[in-house]
Amino acid sequence: MCGIVGYIGQRKAYPILIKGLQRLEYRGYDSAGVALIDEQQHLNVYKAKGKVADLEAYCEGKDTGGSVGIAHTRWATHGEPSSQNAHPHYSASGRLALIHNGIIENYATLKENLVARGIAFRSVTDSEVLVQLVEYIMVSNGLELYEAVQVALRQVIGAYAIAILDREHPSQIVCARQSSPLVVGLGAEGDFYLASDASPIAEYTDRVVYLNDGDIALLRLGDELHVVNLSGEARHPKVKQIDVTLGQLEKGGYPYFMLKEIFEQPACLRDCMRGRINVDADRITLSAVIDYRDKLVAARRVIIVACGTSWHAGLIGKQLIESLCRIPVEVEYASEFRYRDPVIYPDDVVIAISQSGETADTLAAIEQARSAGAFVFGICNAIGASIPRQTQTGVYIHVGPEIGVASTKAFTGQVTVLCMLALTLANERRTIAGDVYKEMVAELVRIPEKMELALKANEQIERLAPIFTYAHNCLYLGRGYNYPVALEGALKLKEISYIHAEGYPAAEMKHGPIALIDSEMPVFVIATRDKLYDKVVSNIEEVRARGGRVVALVTEGDTQMAKLADHIICLPDTMECFQPLIASIPLQLLAYHIAVCKGKDVDRPRNLAKSVTVE
Ligand code: F6R
Repeated sequence: MCGIVGYIGQRKAYPILIKGLQRLEYRGYDSAGVALIDEQQHLNVYKAKGKVADLEAYCEGKDTGGSVGIAHTRWATHGEPSSQNAHPHYSASGRLALIHNGIIENYATLKENLVARGIAFRSVTDSEVLVQLVEYIMVSNGLELYEAVQVALRQVIGAYAIAILDREHPSQIVCARQSSPLVVGLGAEGDFYLASDASPIAEYTDRVVYLNDGDIALLRLGDELHVVNLSGEARHPKVKQIDVTLGQLEKGGYPYFMLKEIFEQPACLRDCMRGRINVDADRITLSAVIDYRDKLVAARRVIIVACGTSWHAGLIGKQLIESLCRIPVEVEYASEFRYRDPVIYPDDVVIAISQSGETADTLAAIEQARSAGAFVFGICNAIGASIPRQTQTGVYIHVGPEIGVASTKAFTGQVTVLCMLALTLANERRTIAGDVYKEMVAELVRIPEKMELALKANEQIERLAPIFTYAHNCLYLGRGYNYPVALEGALKLKEISYIHAEGYPAAEMKHGPIALIDSEMPVFVIATRDKLYDKVVSNIEEVRARGGRVVALVTEGDTQMAKLADHIICLPDTMECFQPLIASIPLQLLAYHIAVCKGKDVDRPRNLAKSVTVE
């Protein structure tokens, strides 16, 4: 949830760290801080409540010299957002400074022991316990920082990515990871970068090492990267090439990343399908399916585990896999699955869906599925993240870094991968006729073009948005494949505009939510031409009869709905199962424009973070 960044080299560290924090701000933004060792070997720590810009303002006029430093942007778990609870945390003597992303589960016990030994704490965070423990072990055992961290972490239960500076040894940073991501960038001149993901590193080097759970690394200026495990045994770090362009990390002229990411979707889906669908647009090849064909084709059941928006993609995946492959599918919230003692068979295939690849609940669900002997398939966006490394195989969605906290292009990327997966398995299982398969593949390839048409509704939606800023509650209705789209539309609105919204299967409305409908209640209905169209028309009549205001998403050329709804938004026609890829677009735009009208920080909504690496 928090973002951490570090640098050691010949350059001034402060601007690199601030830029890095800005790139990681999507991970948390309630407070931020930086620690630098200057030329005189002073360890300067500056912290501020608020965003990275507040930290910068606070640092103005202060000594920000030095070419080694660490920095942190926080998403509070233990202790309110305040400069006191912000990271970096000093050790008792002021010799060490530490930043931490994760949660230390046994911090209370560790703290009690340290307090009993006379160590005073300055914050109420779980993180501070780490720096106090490391210093206590260093001093009482006469160890160097790198050794003391190994001893200390053997006592720690929980999730962490940490980095520590030692004022007495200004040419090194020690860092470590357990269940929270940490990437080390290898500079060309013996310099090192470290960060929660590759985005702050990409502009300086393309050579990175993704640390594994239990790894402790020593970044010493001019030296090779040293990595050991918790027992002190040397590990051989694998150097990888990253492929992130600077353009992907910038707003490219858009006011917000979210809007840029909404508009990028046609290009992203082309990237997602590139190399997987042939030029004749009649065959899908997924190497993960080729490599594990027997396992996947013979699946007795599929269980999809995911959270939030990825869970909504999973609901669409269920319908695709059940109808095309005739395999029963269950879709589970990863957070519930992990504690539910579910029945898992060895011939089950568990599909874990995650944009970030670091969601703690999804990782725990994967572990549970694997320990029960199931085969686990990952669908992920972030390259090299924990989920692709912990699943047996999988497919990257390849939509590029998603920086806006509210997921948009990752959702349509996930749905696209699920479409390709379902079609591939159906073809292998012979549950789809050859000509239908080809027709569907060809239509999938046309989706980016149709998305471009759907995006043309942007200006109309921008004009509509102010009407809905007054609303306290909104209802989103859809059926079949469009039911998860309704859920996703409601989630988008809630997240960024703070308007309460509910997604419902349209026919369920009469079993309760209809009581809420009055003239103050906007109802957004996905009413595209499909087999349930007439039923949805009846549902809209029910809303109208109670004075509700209806915005309907309809298929181009629909004249009936124009008479019924207060506003219609026209969408290009496509096959029913691909409709979510098109219908999501106006709902993303609607949430975006309503939030902008309400003056909200669309990319960094309150209380949220992009990567939920805690339970
Ligand atoms: C909503 C959103 C969240 C995430 C959820 C899972 O816009 O982004 O609901 O979908 O936290 O995250 P990932 O997909 O990274 O596992």
